[in-house]
Amino acid sequence: MTAMNLTVALTGASGAVFGRELLRALEADERVGRVHFVASENSLRVLAEELGLKGRNDLLEKLLAAAPKKTVQHTDADIGAAIASGSYPSNGMIVLPCSMGTLAAIANGLANGLIARAADVTLKERRPLLLCVRETPFNRIHLRNMTLATEAGAVIFPVIPAFYNKPTDSEQMARQFVCRVLAHIGLPQPGAYVWKADE
Ligand SMILES: Cc1cc2nc3c(=O)[nH]c(=O)nc-3n(C[C@H](O)[C@H](O)[C@H](O)COP(=O)(O)O)c2cc1C
Repeated sequence: MTAMNLTVALTGASGAVFGRELLRALEADERVGRVHFVASENSLRVLAEELGLKGRNDLLEKLLAAAPKKTVQHTDADIGAAIASGSYPSNGMIVLPCSMGTLAAIANGLANGLIARAADVTLKERRPLLLCVRETPFNRIHLRNMTLATEAGAVIFPVIPAFYNKPTDSEQMARQFVCRVLAHIGLPQPGAYVWKADE
């Protein structure tokens, strides 16, 4: 099996811990050969608020708590990065967490930064695009944009964690959610909780 090549974007919605757990799971997964990581400018504010991580310097190292082995970081301004082109082979893209602003840009094809452009490319090449949206409550614009994105081929995968595995902290909750995300793109995780009804 050829190693997978995936793109991960973090945007300015709440739920930075979910993005961090996704990056860690992909770094640890031997089926994955390359991860392209883009953090939106506004995600930096949320990363500071929620995880106490300040600035862009060494962000990846801080998120992974180790030197990256396969993950490379790009800025959202770098619209010339490889993932901005459909000619670059990719197995898909995950936006976790996905803000309503980024959802709007993707749903309406703005392609105005690397995140929106890479998502646009993912859709046009008919590759998997998972938008892990987070907002509550939703207004009609959000709902319309989710429908538009779905019609274009994206999967709306809201940051709605499970409780039946009885998580004791936000990391456990995020890890289990990430297991569901990765199973959806063909990377079932060892240790993922699987519901078993009494037989
Ligand atoms: C602490 C914090 C939490 C936020 N949570 C959300 C959220 O859950 N969902 C959302 O759509 N926007 C949220 N926002 C607002 C977005 O960060 C803002 O709309 C931003 O422009 C999104 O930009 P981006 O999509 O380029 O990252 C939050 C902002 C802050 C500072």
